[in-house]
Amino acid sequence: MMITLEKISLKLGQGREETEILNEISLRFDPGKIYVITGPNGGGKTSIAKIIMGIYQPFSGKILYNGEDISGLSITERGKRGIRYAFQSPPRFKGIEIERLLKLANPDVNLKELRSIMVKIGLCPEDYLERIADNSLSGGEMKRLEVASVLLSRTKVAILDEPEAGVDLWGFEQLLNLVINSHRQAEDRTTIIISHSEKFLEAADEIIVVAEGKVQKQGKMDAIRPLIMEGIQCRWRKICLGEEENYGSQCSR
Ligand SMILES: Nc1ncnc2c1ncn2[C@@H]1O[C@H](COP(=O)(O)OP(=O)(O)OP(=O)(O)O)[C@@H](O)[C@H]1O
Ligand SMILES: [Mg+2]
Repeated sequence: MMITLEKISLKLGQGREETEILNEISLRFDPGKIYVITGPNGGGKTSIAKIIMGIYQPFSGKILYNGEDISGLSITERGKRGIRYAFQSPPRFKGIEIERLLKLANPDVNLKELRSIMVKIGLCPEDYLERIADNSLSGGEMKRLEVASVLLSRTKVAILDEPEAGVDLWGFEQLLNLVINSHRQAEDRTTIIISHSEKFLEAADEIIVVAEGKVQKQGKMDAIRPLIMEGIQCRWRKICLGEEENYGSQCSR
């Protein structure tokens, strides 16, 4: 399904404290494609995801879902239409077993599929399916389950907020493959991944760089790489020039 953001602005906070988080963001997400949103911390990436999911209401602008204006719809309504979001910091659930939690994402899923996805996210089904999805789970374990539940739901639009965050080196490759394979198997799914990982950036059909509440650049890895490098160099140069007085010739730029 196609998602279009039309001049979305977002303000958060109250009264004098109110600040503009997103500034007239316009974006189009086509079906069948993988998009990766990247950019510096605090730039507005999660806010875009929350706007699409209906967790935040825009100050101005519209969200279209296959041409339908969904700006006024609740999170539940958007969920029913096939939009799902895996949180950057997933919530915990007291008293709910992992098996039940995953079945909430998709009641039609059978035990064989559940076991299979557990293996794919690197959590042994025998050890985990009957465990409670509460604070006793580690950050990385909860993150893997959050991603799994969105993918299990066979949703039309999957938004994954830093799926790799907190996932170890050994689990990363497995998670990357799961996300990509599940996108390929689902017909016409739109996958939107917020990520800082080069591997995810390379897998993207399109990369969107967001900073200071605006879309700074859009394109493939080759077009984006210089921008990322420039950003790093710029920062380095600033630090370096700032220290030039103290370090003199040690500073080569
Ligand atoms: N509820 C809120 N009230 C006030 N400011 C907020 C609120 N939520 C987010 N912000 C601010 O909005 C800005 C964008 O936040 P957002 O979470 O979208 O950034 P991000 O790009 O996802 O960053 P990160 O890479 O660290 O996850 C930040 O400066 C953040 O402090
Ligand atoms: Mg974020």
